[in-house]
Amino acid sequence: MHLLTKTLDIESISNEFPIFKRKINGHNLIYLDSASTSQKPTQVINSIKEYYEKFNSNVHRGVYKISEEATLAFENSRSNVASLINSYPEEIIFTSGTTKSINMLANILSMNYLKKGDEIIITEMEHHSNLVPWQIASKLYGLKLKYVKLTNNGSIDINKLESLFTEKTKLITITHVSNVLGTINPIKEIAKIAHKHNSLILVDGAQSVPHMTIDVKSLDIDFLAFSGHKMLASTGIGILYGKKKLLESLQPSEFGGGMISNVSLNNSSWNESPWKFEAGTPNVEGAISLSTAISYLKSIGLEKIEKHEKELTKYTLEQLEKIENIKVYGPSERSGIISFNINKLHPHDISAILDREGIAIRGGHHCAMPLMKFLRINGTARISFYLYNSFEDIDKLIKSLKTVSEVLK
Ligand SMILES: Cc1ncc(COP(=O)(O)O)c(C=O)c1O
Repeated sequence: MHLLTKTLDIESISNEFPIFKRKINGHNLIYLDSASTSQKPTQVINSIKEYYEKFNSNVHRGVYKISEEATLAFENSRSNVASLINSYPEEIIFTSGTTKSINMLANILSMNYLKKGDEIIITEMEHHSNLVPWQIASKLYGLKLKYVKLTNNGSIDINKLESLFTEKTKLITITHVSNVLGTINPIKEIAKIAHKHNSLILVDGAQSVPHMTIDVKSLDIDFLAFSGHKMLASTGIGILYGKKKLLESLQPSEFGGGMISNVSLNNSSWNESPWKFEAGTPNVEGAISLSTAISYLKSIGLEKIEKHEKELTKYTLEQLEKIENIKVYGPSERSGIISFNINKLHPHDISAILDREGIAIRGGHHCAMPLMKFLRINGTARISFYLYNSFEDIDKLIKSLKTVSEVLK
């Protein structure tokens, strides 16, 4: 047993995730791809089952018991999400995920707020989901994208970032944590700089909200996007947080049922925020699963989860250094995401070899092709942690990677 396993009781936590009872190629599953999607505890799975078995119905419409119950559960979820990031429920828009949240905001701002010639600052480490929507908006609306170049270890130089701001800068959009390098960007400092230059700030929280305590008031950010499936909830549910005043002043970009207050043949008016941004039947089961996931994460404690992942990351980096021909990318201070390559071996091959031992890791460009170009590679093998990973998982991983490296010699 490792000495450092005290932060979390991994054995009892992993027992709450039914997937870990499965054998993969004759081995216990070691899941090291939570940056891609997380596994789900029984509580979350049961909450979805309970919704369908006991009060499946549409929300906000029916004046009957099960619809009222579904509406209550849906709106309670909004409050639970709000409390997780220290915001108000009116500031929480349900979407289908980070990608949808960012696309929606790109459309909202392009249609209502940004003008031809306006500038948007973005970094070279963004996931395609926080890059392509802005690229398209810039082409459609005549906006200018300005990229923050990265330092050699894949971090942001804050002075270089500030030097990109001009009076035309209307938005900076930046990931909190890099999904490839684990780099943690100093969001509070960046938000201060953005506001000093009268710019808004959007934070891609896909890799931070599931793993650390986020306080949007203390960070003073204008928008935050994240996904439920990366934080123990089901797929197809995500959040766009926006400051109340901003959401009230902005117009929606999607239209239909649920978001209107009045419709005539020639004109329509909108419901209040955040409902005016939620056109159509929402993902009720997703919202319920997200609320259950958040309660579960809170019951364990995000500070403890963050500490556990830090300890795992430190230990893994130390162990990886002992493997011959390995190159690890990114800064030493980082979140629980580690990208590496072994000699000239293709990351897919590393992943396929580990899979034979029941170890699931990711190989590829991780939807960050510009970052791959910066690193002068086509892809990496990536391991990423969550609350159910143990030091024993890392020992098994390292043992298998040593074999991979030996075979190559
Ligand atoms: C940093 C980052 N942003 C955005 C996304 C997209 O998230 P989703 O596919 O849930 O929309 C991901 C997914 O891996 C991510 O890591």
